[in-house]
Amino acid sequence: MWRDGLGGTYRLPTFASVFFALSLPQLRLPRIGAGCFVGRSLVLSVHYLKRLLANAVVNPRYSEARTIYPEDRMLPALRRFFYSAVSFAFVVFFLSSSLLLQAQQPNSVSEELVTNRANDLLKQMTLEEKIAQLSQLPGAHVPGYSSDEKPEETIKKLGAGSVLWVPDPKEIDRLQHLAVEQSRLHIPILFGLDVIHGYRTTFPAPLGMASSWNPQLVEQVESVAAREARSVGIQWTFAPMLDIARDARWGRMIEGAGEDPYLGAAMARAQVLGFQGGAQVAPDHVLACMKHFAGYGAADGGRDYDASYVPEDLMWNVYLPPFKAAVDAGVGSVMSAYMDLNDVPASGNRWLLTDVLRTTWKYKGFVVSDAFAVHSLITHGFARDARDAAYKAFTAGLNMDMASGTYMKFLGPLVQEGRISQEQIDDMVRPILETKIRMGLFEQPYANLVRSEQILNDPQHLQLARKAAQQSMVLLRNENGLLPLDKNKIKSIAVIGPLGDATIDLLSMWGSGTAPGPVVTVAAGIRNKVGPTVKVESAHGPNISRPIPSPFENVEFLKMKEQPKQSPEEARKAFAEAVALAKRSDLAVVVLGEIDMMSAESASRSSLGLSNGQEELLEAVAAIAKPVVLVLVNGRPLEINWASEHVPAILEGWYPGGQGGNAVADVLFGDANPAGHLPVSWPRSAGQQPLYYNHNLTQLPETNQEFKSRYWDLLSTPLYPFGYGLCYTTFAFDNLKLSPTGTAVGGTIEVSAEVTNTGQREGTAVAQLYIHQRAGSASRPVRQLKGFERVTLAPGAKQTVHFKLGSDELQFYSPMLKQWVVEPEQFDVWLGGDSTAKLHGEFELTK
Ligand code: BGC
Repeated sequence: MWRDGLGGTYRLPTFASVFFALSLPQLRLPRIGAGCFVGRSLVLSVHYLKRLLANAVVNPRYSEARTIYPEDRMLPALRRFFYSAVSFAFVVFFLSSSLLLQAQQPNSVSEELVTNRANDLLKQMTLEEKIAQLSQLPGAHVPGYSSDEKPEETIKKLGAGSVLWVPDPKEIDRLQHLAVEQSRLHIPILFGLDVIHGYRTTFPAPLGMASSWNPQLVEQVESVAAREARSVGIQWTFAPMLDIARDARWGRMIEGAGEDPYLGAAMARAQVLGFQGGAQVAPDHVLACMKHFAGYGAADGGRDYDASYVPEDLMWNVYLPPFKAAVDAGVGSVMSAYMDLNDVPASGNRWLLTDVLRTTWKYKGFVVSDAFAVHSLITHGFARDARDAAYKAFTAGLNMDMASGTYMKFLGPLVQEGRISQEQIDDMVRPILETKIRMGLFEQPYANLVRSEQILNDPQHLQLARKAAQQSMVLLRNENGLLPLDKNKIKSIAVIGPLGDATIDLLSMWGSGTAPGPVVTVAAGIRNKVGPTVKVESAHGPNISRPIPSPFENVEFLKMKEQPKQSPEEARKAFAEAVALAKRSDLAVVVLGEIDMMSAESASRSSLGLSNGQEELLEAVAAIAKPVVLVLVNGRPLEINWASEHVPAILEGWYPGGQGGNAVADVLFGDANPAGHLPVSWPRSAGQQPLYYNHNLTQLPETNQEFKSRYWDLLSTPLYPFGYGLCYTTFAFDNLKLSPTGTAVGGTIEVSAEVTNTGQREGTAVAQLYIHQRAGSASRPVRQLKGFERVTLAPGAKQTVHFKLGSDELQFYSPMLKQWVVEPEQFDVWLGGDSTAKLHGEFELTK
């Protein structure tokens, strides 16, 4: 019985308010107590206020005559007012603090509603409809894999979890209408596409973005990519790719952030937040999908799709950290990889998909296979047949079958046989439905294609693409300050080479598969920059082609094309024309590298040389002794040993995106000061692969006086180290301080140092912090990146950078102890502009 202090009974309103307070889900555990308290305060305050007003209305002077509540005469007016005010203040306090809590923990209320709604749907769904949600239907034909069958009939009959490879907004809209209007339960489709670095506006490929060492920029870029994609109805991107790549022969190096787990984790976080617009998918953003889970970059011999053998400690210490960072950032979906990981295909690997992902990391989203990977469990020699493949993938923890149709055909029979339960099916469908509910697809399944035009044509997106491209480029060599060029001192420029006038090649493989806008070629960018007074001519030189054609050339939605095959005579003629043009020009900008289909998926190489006569072309042009600038457009470091000694200026452009040509010109002519740094070690030869800076010391390190070389015919060091990049100014790093200089395990060391611009121009340094643990339960890498910061400084200016080394940075997974450890040992610290930084300090961790 709820009574007020004066004897009245207010059960109903009290319960009503308790109920109201309980429904404030953000109060979670203490909410029953809080609910009673808020309810009670609310009732009291209303009650007292009512009495106060009633009495005041009847008798404005209040103290005399008739009152509606005679017992109130007993209470002095001041006390009544005090009760009301205090009760009311409690209500305001609780409501506002709970609203604040709600703002800080978005969706914790709705999480319950989301699950309830998903469960309600599950109750109404037939087994077939559920299995359709576990299926991603191909919206385009992939020769040799998918059938010609169109997804319409399945969509109308059963709905579909997802459809992929439909870049055309009108087609997306049409299919979505079928699902929402014609399928029985009106469940919308989640449309997925590889929007890796842009949809209409194409930004640099991921390795280029990682070269910026600028996570804020990366977040901005992916946010624009997401907004453009979502505006046309694509709600899911198959990105970011978080595979650590230590071997440049592996073509997919271009799709990731390079070789380092720390930089990789920073880029992973930034990409997830950019794509999704936060830890949850914002209404105008897309669901991110971290891929390829996991170990794909360690392919044997750098051959794409080949098996990976990665010991467990290397998985935890090197290959998994970017994925963990993405999970912590709230990534909404995961793509399992193709290859065998330690003999168990990733798409049927319970250790990866359940033990690591769900049990250890508490991941709550869903897992989609890579394309056709469920069916491919047969070709791996892991599954007996398609039914076995479906069973193995499903029970390993894989929710959605991408394009292979294996779940569609065999999950039903597996349930009927009793090998998979209805409950297991529900558990796998639930996160897919929850994702759709959370993203608001049921309320807004369609894109507004009229509004999308405005988003796709936003001129600010082009500016961002240009800025991103400028920051993605790495200046590898600049002898005698040849760069930046002075356009007033040049009358003619020859743009030479098979990538000087390339368009789609500047976008890399996935950039060609969305709906890219116009591309500014390198030649056009230079023309835009120098204006009509300088003569800019181009000569293509011999064409580039792959000896083994790319399978993707025949995939309809990708627009990559080989450069036409030439006869030896045609190639010779093109070569001679290019050299002649160089001869009659003041300056040669030679643009060499790889056409788009020479990097990315199914594009591994056994040699890293400049193919198709490009090396010879470069040497011939350089022999004319004009100033020569080499601009590289490529997806991996290439063998450029000769150029590194004979070509005075080398700019690595990666695949710079639609504004690439303008950005190259901005850098060459000094309107942008390069600040990109290598996210990979640059090899001298393919024979050095895999090559990475964070290797172990070995018993014969390079620093030994004797027996120091690992090859008899080549240095084992890289041509350019990880983290390296030049600028048009110079920087000094000094005054390294560690505070304290030692601490106990669990403590934190603060590291600081000064960065000074010692050159003549404003520029951006990337201060990099490396550590080494000298002994322990395992050999630790010679160096490991543990912090970085971009610092922009005017000439002569100085800034102190600060870093923290705590347990997060100092821990590692010990193969002996089979757990994460922070060990009481001595540590080295280096700070500088690349992984060979000299500024050194040391500290000790005690027990
Ligand atoms: C690739 C994935 C990609 C998927 C969908 C696969 O071939 O390995 O990276 O996301 O296709 O296009």
